[in-house]
Amino acid sequence: MFHGRLHTRSLLAALVVAVAACEEPAAPSPADEPVFAAGDAVGLPLPLSTGEERLLFAQGKVVFQTVFTPATGLGPLFNQTSCAGCHEDPVVGGVGDELEVHATAYQGGVCNDLSTEGGPVIQDSVTPALHAALGIDRAPMPPDTTATARRTTPAVFGLGLLDAVPESAILALADPDDANGDGISGRPNRSADGRLGRFGRKAFVPTLREFTAAAFRNEMGITNPALPGEETVGGNPMPPGVDPTTDPEITQDALDATEAFMRLLAPPRTQLLSLAQVRGRQLFSSIGCVACHVPALQTGSNPVKALSKKVVPAYTDLLLHDMGSDLADICLGLAEPSEFRTEPLMGVRFKSVYLHDGRAPTIEAAIELHGGEATAARDRFVQLSSQQRAALARFLKGL
Ligand code: HEC
Ligand code: HEC
Repeated sequence: MFHGRLHTRSLLAALVVAVAACEEPAAPSPADEPVFAAGDAVGLPLPLSTGEERLLFAQGKVVFQTVFTPATGLGPLFNQTSCAGCHEDPVVGGVGDELEVHATAYQGGVCNDLSTEGGPVIQDSVTPALHAALGIDRAPMPPDTTATARRTTPAVFGLGLLDAVPESAILALADPDDANGDGISGRPNRSADGRLGRFGRKAFVPTLREFTAAAFRNEMGITNPALPGEETVGGNPMPPGVDPTTDPEITQDALDATEAFMRLLAPPRTQLLSLAQVRGRQLFSSIGCVACHVPALQTGSNPVKALSKKVVPAYTDLLLHDMGSDLADICLGLAEPSEFRTEPLMGVRFKSVYLHDGRAPTIEAAIELHGGEATAARDRFVQLSSQQRAALARFLKGL
């Protein structure tokens, strides 16, 4: 849709005027927002967002949907041409069917994210100029790789609320030595500089702001004011002439707007309509799923009113859990190969495949594949009657 480089505030603002009209929660554009049952609208800004915030949200949505080309900074290595090219279903910001490849090295209990060799995200596409220069069709696999992982594209609904949960609330849920003896020992991941991580399947990235900047760079090869440095091929300099666009390839305004779009994107509304769903919710709690999938987190006080002291129906503790050797793949930060962040079940209704690599074709299969710390809860699930299992799945399909 948009092929210019987002270099000036006025250009971005002009672009945005056209779409701002579509952002009224009352009247979603039919082309953009499929019609759901009443109360099911997704892709809208959080209630209580101010007019100014809604404008920024609309601007960010434009950047999120912008299709980049080599002339506007795409690549030389990339996975897709826009954020919305992956996060797209059922609306912009939703899930996607892209599976990407990550690689790291885990040796002697120490994790190396292979960033000096082009890791951990291994892009599957290259621009024609890079192909012409090196004859490659994808990013090279780092030579020191000890494990690779496949990652499905999650939705980004409601992540601003998760970003606004105070660290102390997350740390209060941790039980690294399993002091309460329930077999479940969640622990936090931490970034290289020691901050609490919460985003990505391994909870390695501390803030939405950092994930956004890294996504531009890793998924589209778009340098930006937060990550302006030269792009590389497997850690080596790009051949001369393949990436002529000036760094950074987007402006601070474009980056800020994209982050605002995600920060203000509301979580889907929980549906609890049928008796089966109510019974499913009770079972979810009684068989111990809530030990990790904590139904509600609360945000702290926040200068953005829409994010301040809000209950988030997240169904996660944002902590790492050992899920057993069958699910294990890469390490990342403190997360060992078998450790994953409790996947938020907020929005799980939009998925068509489950678990980090999409190996589970149904919700029931995803639960049956839980191992490690989740073994006891999984066994209690397997022992339910088929009617009870169906009620539990029905409840999850309303999240
Ligand atoms: C090629 C497909 C693809 C593109 C393009 C893409 N993403 Fe993602 N996104 C993913 C995948 C896969 C993950 C999961 C990564 C992981 O778990 O480590 C993800 C995760 C995320 C998350 C963290 C979600 C969570 O639950 O913690 C955010 C935020 C995000 N993406 C934002 C963006 C933004 C902003 C852009 C554009 C700048 C973008 N993504 C472009 C595939 C994509
Ligand atoms: C020990 C913590 C723990 C317990 C207990 C637990 N889970 Fe999970 N759950 C996780 C983690 C971690 C993941 C992500 C695993 C992955 O992606 O490989 C997950 C993923 C899921 C998924 C897939 C989500 C998606 O988006 O793909 C579903 C569904 C799920 N859990 C439901 C349940 C149910 C139902 C129970 C109770 C029977 C349960 N879980 C108990 C930690 C737990």
